Amino acid sequence: MSALLNSIFGFIMEATRPTFPSITLTQHLIEEQKKHNNTTADLRLLIEVTSRACKLISYHVRKGALGEACGSANSENIQGEIQKKLDILSNNILLEANAWGGSLSAMASEEMEGIYLIPDCFPRGNYLLLFDPLDGSSNIDVNVSIGTIFSVLRCLDDHTPTEQSFLQRGSYQVAAGYTIYGPQTSLVLTTGYGVHCFTLDQEIGSWILTHRDMRIPCDTCEYAINASNQRHWHAPVQRYINELVDGIDSIRKKDFNMRWIASMVSDVHRILHRGGIFIYPADNRTPNKHGKLRLMYEANPMAFIIEQAGGAATNGKKRILDIHPKSLHERVAVFLGSKNEVDRVTRYHLED
Ligand code: AHG
Ligand code: MN
Ligand code: MN
Repeated sequence: MSALLNSIFGFIMEATRPTFPSITLTQHLIEEQKKHNNTTADLRLLIEVTSRACKLISYHVRKGALGEACGSANSENIQGEIQKKLDILSNNILLEANAWGGSLSAMASEEMEGIYLIPDCFPRGNYLLLFDPLDGSSNIDVNVSIGTIFSVLRCLDDHTPTEQSFLQRGSYQVAAGYTIYGPQTSLVLTTGYGVHCFTLDQEIGSWILTHRDMRIPCDTCEYAINASNQRHWHAPVQRYINELVDGIDSIRKKDFNMRWIASMVSDVHRILHRGGIFIYPADNRTPNKHGKLRLMYEANPMAFIIEQAGGAATNGKKRILDIHPKSLHERVAVFLGSKNEVDRVTRYHLED
């Protein structure tokens, strides 16, 4: 009898419980803080301010040729790449938004040679923020998906941070995320307890949790690589990709599909949703550069996200998150996504 009463009581409680149809980013971060005690108020503010800055970048992206987003800035960044207007605009938006909040000590960006110290007129906090303000710059003018990538480290120095303060292994990241400016604007975030995706509700201006605890399948039939560089690849990459291309006729005994969007954010976002492997290898052209992508602004935050979603990320030989960075703008080969594929191509490198 009491079991029956209990279940009736439970049913009434459930039916009368106030329902909150959507969970905002703020609610989610507060819930995480309660559950894991991992998100300090400062870190929460930092994530919220960064994601708010991304809304502004999203606004400029959507304006396209009607606003200030398109075209070249006719300048070069530290990597020797021509900067687009939107690269610089996004960089400035992120710097301005994050300068005053009190949670940061310094910032570093793919678009700036040196680090940016929080000016003396603002309070300094305990975190360091790194970002690729605009990823996939070649897609801007042709209205194809692009993104912003960010990574948060603790500032371990008592004194004024220097470039050295940023040179921490990726495994020390306390948060990482990206926004994708595509058919929808989405924010993908990890603070070390899974990966969650929020979609920007453009009308009310809020990030709404739409994909909780994203998981990448261990096996996949999709890969992403710029195949026009094939003649420059090293032997293990040639071996791995040839097997995928030969599909059912190779030892893999199944056919594979290829996709390349030329924006790491977009390729990784697809992989996060449906599995796949993303590859940007080092090749014969860049013996001293170890690949194209940047360890601190691209590889580390993406590796953190991918691992948190059950995938793997290596430079061909070792876990990306274990690499000890030697310089801020260091480049790295990247193999990330579905675990069994990343393990296989890593094994091919180790056997070479
Ligand atoms: P960015 O626009 O920040 O310089 O990054 C572009 C990167 C990466 O996002 C993408 O996967 C890759 O460069 C595209 O390279 P290809 O030009 O070889 O396609
Ligand atoms: Mn990039
Ligand atoms: Mn960029």
